[in-house]
Amino acid sequence: MWGWIPDTTSIQLLETKIVWQSKQSAACQSDYKKNGSVGGRYVFLLIAVLVSNIPDSYAQFERITDPEILGNGDQLFQENCAICHGKKAQGLVENWQVSGEDGKFPPPPLNGTAHTWHHPLNGLAHTIRNGTLEIGGSMPGWKDKLSDDDIFAIVIWISSLWPDEIYNAWMQRNVK
Ligand code: HEC
Repeated sequence: MWGWIPDTTSIQLLETKIVWQSKQSAACQSDYKKNGSVGGRYVFLLIAVLVSNIPDSYAQFERITDPEILGNGDQLFQENCAICHGKKAQGLVENWQVSGEDGKFPPPPLNGTAHTWHHPLNGLAHTIRNGTLEIGGSMPGWKDKLSDDDIFAIVIWISSLWPDEIYNAWMQRNVK
């Protein structure tokens, strides 16, 4: 859609690149930027922001603030997800950890108060793409409706709701 990853639209690949990238020196990074086929802008937004040489517990990751990504993510979330997860991803039930009589769990908040941030981008994308019906949950899969770019934008919008410490903890899981 925005051509940020022309070769493949796999978020898995994106994550591989994040992992790889975060382990490279600054020199390699600029080399990659020059030669990379990824049209690296968005990939770089996500990873170039790692302040290197700082111990994990202090690492700070800059936010993605691109208004196009955030705007799209917000809009797509309101159109497709808010009905179950709430307009601000706050969840619509009092306790998302209690299953209903059918044994299924309600849609959890995605706003940083539940455990969404425990899952790296890759894992979240997998859940969103495939849904949870096949594993006994009740979320439909979105892969026929949303592109990987869409899903990426939604996840970035969701993560924009998280406080810094949650966002940093999530990013640490992304770069490990
Ligand atoms: C029909 C209701 C429904 C809709 C619509 C829905 N979800 Fe969900 N979602 C759920 C439920 C229920 C769960 C909890 C997993 C389960 O047990 O099914 C869940 C779980 C998730 C999780 C995992 C959360 C975690 O903390 O691990 C993510 C991420 C997620 N949804 C994102 C989305 C996104 C993005 C959309 C819109 C594209 C969306 N959901 C639309 C019902 C929904």
